[in-house]
Order: sequence, then C-alpha cells, then structure tokens
Amino acid sequence: MKLFDQRLGGTSVTYAGVLEKIEIMRNTLRWASKLERADIEKLLRHANTLRDEVMQMSHKERFVRAATAEVEPLEPIERPPGERRKGLMDRSFIFEGTFGDNPKLLESLEIAEKAAPTDLPVLIDGESGTGKELMAKVIHANGSRADKPYISVNCGAIPDNLLESELFGHKKGAFTGAANDRKGKFESAHKGTIFLDEIGELPLQGQVKLLRVLQAHEIQRVGSDEIINVDTRIVAATNKNLRKLIEEGSFREDLFYRLSVIHVTLPPLRERKDEIPLLISFFCDEAAEALKRAPVKMTPRLRDFMLHYSYPGNIRELRNLIYRLSCLAGDMADIVHLPEDIRPKAPARAITAGPMDIEAMKLTSLSDAKRAASDEAERAFLEHGLKEVGGTVAELARRCDMNRSHLQMLLKKHGIRSKDFRRQAAEAQEKGKAH
Ligand SMILES: Nc1ncnc2c1ncn2[C@@H]1O[C@H](COP(=O)(O)OP(=O)(O)OP(=O)(O)O)[C@@H](O)[C@H]1O
Ligand SMILES: [Mg+2]
Repeated sequence: MKLFDQRLGGTSVTYAGVLEKIEIMRNTLRWASKLERADIEKLLRHANTLRDEVMQMSHKERFVRAATAEVEPLEPIERPPGERRKGLMDRSFIFEGTFGDNPKLLESLEIAEKAAPTDLPVLIDGESGTGKELMAKVIHANGSRADKPYISVNCGAIPDNLLESELFGHKKGAFTGAANDRKGKFESAHKGTIFLDEIGELPLQGQVKLLRVLQAHEIQRVGSDEIINVDTRIVAATNKNLRKLIEEGSFREDLFYRLSVIHVTLPPLRERKDEIPLLISFFCDEAAEALKRAPVKMTPRLRDFMLHYSYPGNIRELRNLIYRLSCLAGDMADIVHLPEDIRPKAPARAITAGPMDIEAMKLTSLSDAKRAASDEAERAFLEHGLKEVGGTVAELARRCDMNRSHLQMLLKKHGIRSKDFRRQAAEAQEKGKAH
C-alpha cells in the first residue's frame, strides 16, 4: 500500500519499501561478526533515511493501524501440524501440490504465506530435491502477481558470456550473433516474478549487475544506453551454503543481504522421515493417475527399504523412485525394480521368513504378507535353480518340467538375468582350471 504525504505533495513511500530496508539492516546486524566505524556510519545513514521515510507516512494511517492491529505473540505458539495446515487451507492458501505436515515445512509455508503478498526478495535454500522451485511457485501463486508472468532462470546453466544478454536482453548488433533486439528475462518478468535458480552459480560479474536491479529496479540491455525500469519480484534459490561462498570470495555479501530479506530453508527428507509413509502413498496415487493404472503395492522388504533409505536426492528421488516402481512393476513392486545402484545386495534368502521379514510384514495386510513371502520363495527357487544349471534357462525348464517361456517371464518379473549366472559359472570354471 502506498501512503502519500500531503505536506510533501505527492512523494510516496511504501510500507513494503520501508520494511525491506529495515530487514536489510537487521540482516546486516544479525550476521556481522564485528562492525568498523565506517559500517556504523553507513547503518546510521540508513537509519536516518528510514526515520525520514517513516515521518512521511501519514500520522493517521500509522497510529490508527497500529492501534487496531492484532498483536502477534512474540513466540509462535506450538500448534499441532494438522491444525496449521488446516489454518493455511482456511485462509485459501495455494499449496501448488506441496505435501507434508512436518513442522519445518509448515513453518516455510507460513513464511511463504506472509511474504507472498509483499514484493520483498525471498531466498530459498535447501538440499537438492527438497522443493525449492515448488516453493518459489507457491510464493508466486499466493501473491498479487499470480496472474502475471513467472519466469524461471537457471543461473548455473547459462554460459558466462551470454548471462548478461539472457538476463537483461541485448540490442541488435551488440555482439556477433545479436541479429535482433531481444528482451531479457527481467523484462519478460515485468510485473511478475523472476525465479533465479542456483543463484550460487552466478559469476561475480553477474552478481554486480543483479545488485543494481535490486537497488534501482532498472536494467540496460547489452549494447544499449537506454535505462529500462523493471518491476520484478525476485525469488532466488540455492543448494549451496552462500555464507561459505561469501567467505571464499565467490559470492557478494551485499547481494546476499539484499536477496535474503526473507530467508526460507527447506528441510531435507531425512529430517522428516516420519512423513515418508504418507509421501509414498501420495506419490503412488499421483503416479497411478499419471500412468492410468492402479496404485502399485510394495513387498514388505521393498517397503522396509523405502522407509529406511537415506534419499540423498530428497523428495525428487522418492517421487522418481515411485514413478519408476509404478511403471516397471506389475501389481506388486519389489527390490528388483529399484535402480541397480541403490538396490540392496541381498543374498538369496531362505524360504522361511526371518525376524526382519516378520517385522516388515506388520506394515501391510496379511494377504500382502502372504504374497510377498510367496514371491520371495519363488525368487529364491529360481536363483538356486539357475545356479545349479549354470544359467541355462532351457535346462532349468526341463528339470522343473516347466514351460520355457513361462520361466522366462518369471525371471523377468524378478529381474533375474540368466547371463549373470552363466558368467558366474564360467568364472568358477576358469578358477577351477587355474587351480
Ligand atoms: N513438499 C512436497 N510435496 C510434494 N512434492 C514435492 C515437495 N517437495 C518437492 N516435491 C516434488 O519434488 C520434486 C523436486 O522439487 P523441486 O524441483 O522444487 O526441488 P529443488 O529443491 O528445486 O531441487 P534442485 O535443487 O535439484 O533444483 C518436484 O517434482 C516437486 O514437485
Ligand atoms: Mg530446483
């Protein structure tokens, strides 16, 4: 909201603008390990400007609003997650598919809810696959710019020599290959939101230019003197530790403070393991819908793996795994349907269930447990048989009096490759010869 100072006849100050400056000062103070006299002078100058700006605001607006405003408690009251999520829903918050009741995630969503209607820059950090881009979309969708452009730029994917032109555009003939005038991403995002992904990858030269946009809200196309005003809300994301980059000299401290007026950190999946069962069922349903099939079921040992795996790729990895299982398995997915690099190297198990299997079986229904035990027995039988016949499927089919194509189908179902057994047999033979 803009407030006009009648005395100054039209000079305008925005609450958001003042708030942004206060936040920048707070951040500077919060992270400063020591302040030199020159820094103190600078902060004092900022404080004086702020005081002048606040003075410009109408007394009536300031005091009436302050008197009627609801006083927020200093310490947030601990509320159950379900209630917090419901609160967001009751306030018509747009989740954009963000799922989960973890307190840290809900805190991020509540920050997003408050930040969305303002134009304050937001910095989102978190490990790869924790939902940073999703959160940027949430912020855009809940703000007043929701019906305006949302432009996403991956700062790490643009070659250094094209960066300036990508972000700010260029004039015809500005460099070899610039055949026409071209708008940059900032201009395309005018009135909307620009999402600067992997901001930690932005080279120093680009950082200086970005700082200028944040300070003056204006850009110049490469090769042009014309100054263009841009009204773009900036949301940036990184999976790097920007403070560490600042210490190493590869990220500008002043840019960090400017970008992180609102700072959201997304929790890694290993800190919200309690939610994995819910996420599994959420993504199983999602994948089933996308693939137009019934939600995939999991054997107890796969489920056990899915619940305890470390997910270095966080939610993206979990989601991708479930889509993979849903696509590759029939009704029931098992360990064999996992990508080979993460598949646990389990030796062929005994046909009777051990204590771990019983533990895992408690997680599903009796019929699921029975089916899984039968699957496991089938698999152990096939592996044992193939070993006996040195990997020759025809021979195994003959010995078991089975149809060969049916046997092939069973091997495929379990992801058992006869050639692995043939190789093992050949190796054993080689060794035998050597001795
Ligand atoms: N809380 C969540 N609920 C539902 N889906 C989620 C959630 N968080 C992330 N996802 C999904 O996980 C995938 C990865 O999310 P996203 O691309 O936003 O992560 P990111 O942090 O930007 O990853 P990267 O650092 O690798 O770019 C997306 O498919 C997204 O929809
Ligand atoms: Mg991303």
